[in-house]
Parts: sequence; structure tokens; C-alpha cells
Amino acid sequence: MNYQSSFDRLKQKMNAGSIEPAAPTENRSVPNVPVPVQPAFYDFALFPEYKEFTTMEWFYEKQNYTKNQFLKHAGASDATVELDGRRVINFSSYNYLALANDPRVKAAAKRAIDDCGTSTGSGRSITGEVSVHQEFEREIADLLGTEDAVVSVGGYSTNAFAIGYVCRPQDMIIYDELIHNSALSGCKIAGSRRFSFPHNDYEALEKLLVEHRHKYERVLILVEGVYSMDGDIPDVPRIIEIKNRHNALLMVDEAHSMGIIGPNGLGVTDYFNISGKEIDILYGSMSKAFGTCGGYVAGSKPLIAMLKNYAPGVLLYGAAPTPANTAAGLETLRIMRAEPERARQVQANAAYFIAKAKSVGLNTYNSKDSGVVPIMLRDSELALWMSIQLFDRRICTFPMLYPIVPRDKSRLRFFINTNHTKEQIDYTIDCLVENLRVAPRSKGVM
Ligand SMILES: Cc1ncc(COP(=O)(O)O)c(C=O)c1O
Repeated sequence: MNYQSSFDRLKQKMNAGSIEPAAPTENRSVPNVPVPVQPAFYDFALFPEYKEFTTMEWFYEKQNYTKNQFLKHAGASDATVELDGRRVINFSSYNYLALANDPRVKAAAKRAIDDCGTSTGSGRSITGEVSVHQEFEREIADLLGTEDAVVSVGGYSTNAFAIGYVCRPQDMIIYDELIHNSALSGCKIAGSRRFSFPHNDYEALEKLLVEHRHKYERVLILVEGVYSMDGDIPDVPRIIEIKNRHNALLMVDEAHSMGIIGPNGLGVTDYFNISGKEIDILYGSMSKAFGTCGGYVAGSKPLIAMLKNYAPGVLLYGAAPTPANTAAGLETLRIMRAEPERARQVQANAAYFIAKAKSVGLNTYNSKDSGVVPIMLRDSELALWMSIQLFDRRICTFPMLYPIVPRDKSRLRFFINTNHTKEQIDYTIDCLVENLRVAPRSKGVM
């Protein structure tokens, strides 16, 4: 029965008097007195989230700290950056390979604008498809050894919506406790049963699979190629072996591994010398080594066909990645393949940073072979204080505090760039040591 015919029948019955029309609202017995609603539910200024923000502002003011967030930068941001008119050594840029300002990448983006404009004007499946989308997808799939790939508009959203599409309430997602927030959002969208396992604890992962695998349909395991807080690399071959035994799916987030780790800098498949076909879902962000914006998923033909045609937020119900962003990503991809020395230099700089830090007793935690190096300070106030002292000495790095990490794992995080020099690293370690000697005692405020 279609809508029109049932509607017509309803009208006929009402005309015949067999159904009374609904009474106007004001005549129903609805209480006239409005239910009191606390202002905290409709006044943003009273939201606890805003109070948290103002407390942080108060803390900065009380300590006489200059806030170094949201400062305008001029020029490109790689090993150094000009922030509010001051040139600083930059350990806060994702632009690991310094390609965001490469003349070839900028020229590719400009060409794409000249050819196709600043926007494709619609979603890809309608009229928004341009040749650089297809070229990027072909070349990333070729690089990773997968059957196909899809490129999408945002890094965070691609991760969240791909997970949210692949998994459903009758499925289970098991993730490393350090997984990125975008993956956690994906888990919420999916509505699946969720379990986390302690960081890199594969026995715990296996135990969860033994206990719960049989109760669910699809099971997705989520790990990162390089963990964005600790800078370590999981044992991907071991996870593949585990997931194969339990007929589960594996998704690896390559945001911080693609373009950086491995003998050729081409991510986890290069690092472990495995084929991309062994990993069910390879996700990457284009805002890190790719020096632009967007996200991609590489995998089998059926996976990519489903994501392209049905997954909301990947391509469906949203705009296509801009021609300029995609062309920049494509050019970067080609440079990454042609110039592995850029990634090797990131690895060498990180190894130098870690060795130097360890030689003076600093704790770089689990970081190894990647471009992310934490300096563990284990106290939020100290980490915040230290980042401000370093900024005063023209070194830009940000503190990672609760709730991003547990309070006792507060740290400074350093993103290592291919253009960092030994002198910049030496100076930074010296400043860290000098400041630690005079650091105030934590007041336990944060
Ligand atoms: C591990 C990880 N995954 C995904 C993302 C999201 O990527 P994007 O910055 O492109 O939105 C990030 C961003 O910081 C990340 O660190």
C-alpha cells in the first residue's frame, strides 16, 4: 500500500465521520504551567565544558603565562615557523616531510584550481568527480598493494565514518587503549559492542577474542601504525596472525606512519615488508606527511565499493575533496615514492633526538623508529609550565595533558621534521635540562 492511497483512505473515513479529527493542542489536557528547566541546560555560559575552559584561562592568567595557542603563523610551518612575528623552532607541525610548502606540491594544487576551480560543486557520485580523485586512488592502492582505495574530504571524518559504516550493533570492535579519538567516534557511530585492550598487549587482545568472538557477527580490531602520543609501532604481523585465527577484520590507522616509517618511508607495509592485502582496512590522513587535508581508505574492491557507494560521510551526503587538496596529496605521494631520503631524515633526526634526550636522563618513553617523540614529565602543571618556558626560548611544542593522556603520563610531544637540524635538537634538549633544574614544585592545581 503506498502512502498516497492510505492517506486518501484516511481522508475518506474522516469525511464520512468515522474518524474524529485530532483536537487542537490548546484543548488537550496539557499542563499549562511550564516545567522548570535549570539554566544550566540552555545557557552555554553555565555548561560545565565552558567552566572547564574558563578555569584553564584563569590558571594561565594566575600564573602569568602567555597563551601560545591560536597564534597566527606567517609563511610555511615545518622545522621552524613564524608565530605572531617570532620565528620559533617548530616541534608541533604534522608536516613531517616539509612538503606542504614544496614548489612542486604548490604548483600541482594551483594547476588543479586553474583546471577545475576551488570546489567540485557537489558530491563525487553526482557531478563532483575529477581526474585527480581517481589518480590519487589508483596510486595509493598501487603503493600499498591493495585492490582499490577511496579518497575523502576529512582525515578525522574518513576514519570515523568508515568504522561507523563497516560495523553495526550486532558486531564487536576491539581497540588498543591508545587509539585516536576519530576511531572512538567511529565506534559510537557504529553502535557496536566495544572492548579496549591495554596498549600493545596482544595476549589481552587474544583473550577478548577467545571470550567474545562467537557472540558477534563482524569483529573489527583497531590499531595505529604509529601511536600519536607514544610514537611507538605495534607488532602488525602478530596482530594479522591473531585476527586471521579468529576470522576478525583488522584496520590500521596510518595517520602518523604513512610517509614516515619503513626503509622507504611508506608506512607499516614497508616497515614490516608485508603486502597491504594482509590488512583489511588501511586508513590514512592526508594532513600529516601528505601536507594537505583529507583522508583515504585502501583495501579490497568490495570494501571500497561499499564505502564509496553507501557509507555516509565518506563520499555520500558530503562534498568531494577539493581539486587542490587532492592534487597536492597526489603530488606528495609521488614525491614520497621518489625521495625516500626525506623519511629517512625524519627517522635519523628522531633517533638523534631520542639518543640525546636519554644521554641527559630525559624519558622518551616508548618512541622508536617514528617521527613522534614524547618527553615524559608525568605532571600536568610541569608539562604546561615547561611548554611555556620553551616557547619563551623560541621552541614550540605542546603539552599533552589529561584527559588526552592520564595525569601521571603528562608529557611534551615533539613532532620531528625532515628539516630539523642537529643544532636545533641540541638547543632544545639543553633548554629542557636547564628548565627542569629550576622548575617550580607542582601545586596539584591541574
Ligand atoms: C592517529 C590519528 N588518526 C586520525 C587523525 C585525523 O586526521 P586529520 O588531522 O586529517 O583530521 C589524527 C589527527 O591528528 C590522528 O592523529
